Amino acid sequence: ELGGFPHFMLKEIFEQPETIRNAMRGRLDREQATAVFGGLNLEPRQLRSIDRMVLTACGTSWHAAMVAEYMIEEFARLPVEVEYASELRYRNPPMSPLTLLLAITQSGETIDTLAALREMKRKGHRSLAICNVVGSTIAREADGGVYLHAGPEIGVASTKAFTSQCVVLALIALHLGRLRHLSYEAGLRIIDELEALAASVEKALETNDMARHVAGRYAGCDNFLYLGRQYNFPTALEGALKLKEISYIHAEGYPAAEMKHGPIALVDEHTPSVFIVPQGAVYEKVLANMEEIRARGGPVIAIVDEDDERASQIADEVIRVPHVADYLQPIVTAIPLQLLAYHIAVLRGCDVDKPRNLAKSVTVE
Ligand code: M6R
Repeated sequence: ELGGFPHFMLKEIFEQPETIRNAMRGRLDREQATAVFGGLNLEPRQLRSIDRMVLTACGTSWHAAMVAEYMIEEFARLPVEVEYASELRYRNPPMSPLTLLLAITQSGETIDTLAALREMKRKGHRSLAICNVVGSTIAREADGGVYLHAGPEIGVASTKAFTSQCVVLALIALHLGRLRHLSYEAGLRIIDELEALAASVEKALETNDMARHVAGRYAGCDNFLYLGRQYNFPTALEGALKLKEISYIHAEGYPAAEMKHGPIALVDEHTPSVFIVPQGAVYEKVLANMEEIRARGGPVIAIVDEDDERASQIADEVIRVPHVADYLQPIVTAIPLQLLAYHIAVLRGCDVDKPRNLAKSVTVE
């Protein structure tokens, strides 16, 4: 069952090149330079008339929703709001009838996500769901949806579901973009990038030894910071959540530039900062944020592109991943963050697959 891996979490981390391929299979249409789905149950005309999207989820799925906010903004120029399902269910936000709800959930059974979906449906909004578990309650109750096809995720810490959610959300952003202003050429470029992604994730898995080495150096720390900007702000949140839930170390994810508005006071020589700093739109800006942490004596662990020179000079530890377009960076950089959390948890003797106080799906409020 474990296929030679010591834990389901590690097995599921290593499944990601395959699960990413599964999330795209049959959904890339080169001829039309777009993504296609079987079960949206929405006509192109209806999709074009959407004036806003509300994305709702919990935990890791909420982080995928945050990545999607940037994707949909970039490709489709549609206003997007991301809401914790536990908040949305009791709110009464003003929403036009043309607002589309998108619920994101691995299990399809998370009670808050289900309640938020029901509340929005009751108000007459159309709804879509991105689920992994086929036939789950949320998959059945949404008006339409997309499955991840990632296979069962057993480890309580979500890994392969997160990267598959990001892939499916990129496909949705591409689809919506092509219904609006995104050009044929831009659509083709995105398809090329998506088709190359699984190979990049495969390479990113080669960081396993390095992640184990870094884990060995910092497993005794009591506090970690995870920092990134733009697409990698949600990645930072996700890296921190992975560490918290399986190693019981306090970790905070933050947009790197917000540090100076308070949290930088936490930095000392025992508080490592994990920077997600691949080359892209905000690379220079994040380098400056890294310097700020260094100047205060905090150890810096940097997730960088394979040919990076500048970030690696500032950092104490460097983990290199293949270069990909900005919107795909959360997927590729998630891999070493998952591995880092995994190895730290193992070194601390934690029950990686079944962390204390947690259930795989939260079906009570
Ligand atoms: O099944 P869901 O995606 O709805 O679950 C949402 C969260 O409970 C889940 O992502 C949780 O945060 C994970 N344990 C994170 O690794």
